[in-house]
Amino acid sequence: MQAPEVYADLSKNLVDAATMRFLLDLARDCGLQAQRDAMLRGDVANATEGRAVLHTALRAPRGAGPYSEEVHGVLDAMLAYAERVRADPGLTDIVNIGIGGSDLGPRMAVQALQTYGDEGRRRLHFVSNVDGHDIAPLLARLEPTRTLFIVASKTFTTQETMANAHAARAWFVAQGGSDVNRHFAAATTNVKAAAEFGIRTTFGFWDWVGGRYSLWSAIGLPIAIAVGAANFRALLAGAHAMDRHFASAPLAQNLPVLLGLIDVWYRNFHGLSSRSVAPYHQGLARLPAYLQQLEMESNGKRVDRDGRPLPLATSPVVWGEPGTNGQHAYFQMLHQGSDVIPVEFIAVRTPAHELHEQHRMLLANCLAQSQALMLGKTADEAGAERAPTAGADIAPQVLAQHRSFPGNRPSTTLVLEALTPAALGALIAMYEHRVFTSGALWGINSFDQWGVELGKALCNALLPRLIDGQTRGLDGSTAGLLQRLRG
Ligand code: F6P
Repeated sequence: MQAPEVYADLSKNLVDAATMRFLLDLARDCGLQAQRDAMLRGDVANATEGRAVLHTALRAPRGAGPYSEEVHGVLDAMLAYAERVRADPGLTDIVNIGIGGSDLGPRMAVQALQTYGDEGRRRLHFVSNVDGHDIAPLLARLEPTRTLFIVASKTFTTQETMANAHAARAWFVAQGGSDVNRHFAAATTNVKAAAEFGIRTTFGFWDWVGGRYSLWSAIGLPIAIAVGAANFRALLAGAHAMDRHFASAPLAQNLPVLLGLIDVWYRNFHGLSSRSVAPYHQGLARLPAYLQQLEMESNGKRVDRDGRPLPLATSPVVWGEPGTNGQHAYFQMLHQGSDVIPVEFIAVRTPAHELHEQHRMLLANCLAQSQALMLGKTADEAGAERAPTAGADIAPQVLAQHRSFPGNRPSTTLVLEALTPAALGALIAMYEHRVFTSGALWGINSFDQWGVELGKALCNALLPRLIDGQTRGLDGSTAGLLQRLRG
């Protein structure tokens, strides 16, 4: 089926017309449309944080969505700044300091839209890990007078980001840098904290933008610097086209809805616990990592909206690597392993390079993998072939078993005409709405992330113990490890 910018072949999935009728009925019974409309209207869809969920407002045309004036005010200012940075030959290195949603989306999109950038004129770097091995080698290569640091943090309190931001500022000052105003900018909802840090060039956003849904906001600044204002607007327009499709297409012709329903089908009716994403485009190399946060932070929940334990499984594990690299690593398991793992192939018809023969090879590989998963090969078929390297002492029928494929392994293939800003925007928005759909059927809050809090609190409690070595009150395992790790 064709949705805006994205064509989907769903025909290799383990569903027939009756299954789809059943799933669509289930969606109606769960009030999917009412839940969708409430979110798009700006009702409090994230009750545990008391917030609306309005990332769709960030890509609505001027005058069309909620908060339009504020959204377009910041967008205009942010894009004008991005253009000033692009026009400044003195700024050759842009460093985005952020983590989670303040890193994964921009990092993925900048790589995907590389051919729309002018990499020759400036380099974009992304620092996320609190591990000093991330920022230290980068700083060693940079020149303070030619570098712009963007501190990207919705809260402006995240440990990793603040540690890296302080390290960057200390390095900048130690190198003799003085014009913090020219060399530091921030994207945050906590404008006050950014000002206290000493940053005056700040682009704000709002608490109704979830971190993992924020690449459309000021968090998208590195994307805008990489590809320019017009391409950033095209990214938003592509996402908006998908928003309209999600909001208005009948459920049976609504691509994010159908994908979300098939996800529920595999997770709850087939018991499949993971899904592999295989983008056959090097530009989408970071898409699986981006989707891991989008899907698993959103739907990795075990209680419903009323806090009741759910009697069913929720988010699958999402993982993957670009094709064809994955083929030479774990595709063995996809074809012959004991688990059935649905695969999502993403193919792009028109490449942005001139190596047409290689592009045909790439597409042939993509088609072949989904075909092989579906068709399989019986032991009889395998036995009838001449084994290329048959050992002399292995019986032919034993070898035939090893060389057979069960087949009937499900996959979806998504096709983009080209990896344009609009196509990328539509693709990402499609994933957002698909996650919403499965979350709505499971009855969970897809927009909070309390599961990250316990580890953060324990980390804060352990930090001083790494200095003073105090282990009193700790469990034995942690005490032993702490003693071993102390410097
Ligand atoms: O991992 C938890 C989380 O809160 C994510 O949801 C978020 O994207 C990330 O941390 C970064 O948060 P912030 O943008 O506030 O630094």
